[in-house]
Amino acid sequence: MSLTVYRRAHFNAAHRLFREDWSDAKNLEVFGKCSNPHYHGHNYELVVGITGAVDVETGFLIDLKILKDIIKEEVENPLDHKNLNVEVDDFKTLNPTVENIAIVIWNRLRKRINAEYDVSVKLFETPRNFVLYTG
Ligand code: NI
Repeated sequence: MSLTVYRRAHFNAAHRLFREDWSDAKNLEVFGKCSNPHYHGHNYELVVGITGAVDVETGFLIDLKILKDIIKEEVENPLDHKNLNVEVDDFKTLNPTVENIAIVIWNRLRKRINAEYDVSVKLFETPRNFVLYTG
C-alpha cells in the first residue's frame, strides 16, 4: 500500500537566464525575455509530494507540520524574495530555469526526508508552465 501526501508552498524570486559565454544576441534568441540583463520575477508555486506507507499507529504518512517546517527551511527561507542568480549559491554557475530550480529543491528536500519515502517536486513558474521532478 502506498499513498502520497502533498504540501503546497510559494515563493517569489527574480532570475535571469543566460550563459556568460554567449553574446547578448544569442542569449536573447535562446532565452527570450528571461535573458533580460536587469532580471525579472516569477511567483513560483511549489507542490511537494511524499509517497510511502501510512503509519498504523498515527494514521499519518508523515507529520505535515514537520514537512511544512522542512519546506520553510530548505525552500522558502533561502529562495523567497531573492535574486536567484546573485544571492543563491546553487545558481552561481547553474542557470535558474524552472527545471534546475526544481532539481535544486528536490535535492535539498531529499536530504531531509527519511529514505523510506519517495519525494516529488512539482514547480510552477507560471500558471501554465511547470515541471515535475522525482529524482
Ligand atoms: Ni523568467
